[in-house]
Amino acid sequence: MSFTVAIDGPAAAGKGTVSRAVAAHFGLAHLDTGLLYRAVGKRVLLGENPVAAARALRAEDLEADGLRTQDVAQAASKVAVMPEVREAMVDFQRAFARRSGGAVLDGRDIGTVICPEAEAKLFVTASAECRAERRLKELVENGHQASYDSVLADVRERDARDSDRVAAPLRPAADATCIDTSDLTIAQAVGSAIAAVTAART
Ligand code: CDP
Repeated sequence: MSFTVAIDGPAAAGKGTVSRAVAAHFGLAHLDTGLLYRAVGKRVLLGENPVAAARALRAEDLEADGLRTQDVAQAASKVAVMPEVREAMVDFQRAFARRSGGAVLDGRDIGTVICPEAEAKLFVTASAECRAERRLKELVENGHQASYDSVLADVRERDARDSDRVAAPLRPAADATCIDTSDLTIAQAVGSAIAAVTAART
């Protein structure tokens, strides 16, 4: 039986943490769809054509090193405005979403475009300042150099590009449960998400 959880939200809102925890709790597979765009963005930084890179993408490309940098995040959000790039990756995401045993997908357009029929939809957000603080901590912990100001600027720039684009803009699905994690601990955010998915399962 398939069961799909769609988790969307802006950059560094905590979707990854919430998605992994929801997947572990319910025994579902998890796909971080941002990695698809990051993998294409990284190839574009190396000189490839974005549409060709998206069409040639393989599952193992999502495991590549160096996908979590700010440069790659910016390149990802630039390729993500291109309809042909998005189109090239739809089938892979939908097949993952409908795998038997169920799946959690996190991204920007999962509840609105990729899986509008998902059984559970969450929109995870937080203030830009909170998100920048969390992302800075994560980057530093992973050995990257960054300043708070540059991370905040990156988050704001990507939010604007992701929200204003014509193809699959970032926005909550009408039937999504919104969770603002600005003043929540990780345990509280995860608890709210699990409660919302539990309600959708019954
Ligand atoms: O981890 P973070 O929230 O900062 O970003 P991400 O989820 O890895 O996504 C990187 C970029 O890919 C985003 O800024 C979006 O432009 C794009 N993206 C998208 O357009 N659609 C998705 N389903 C996932 C990511």
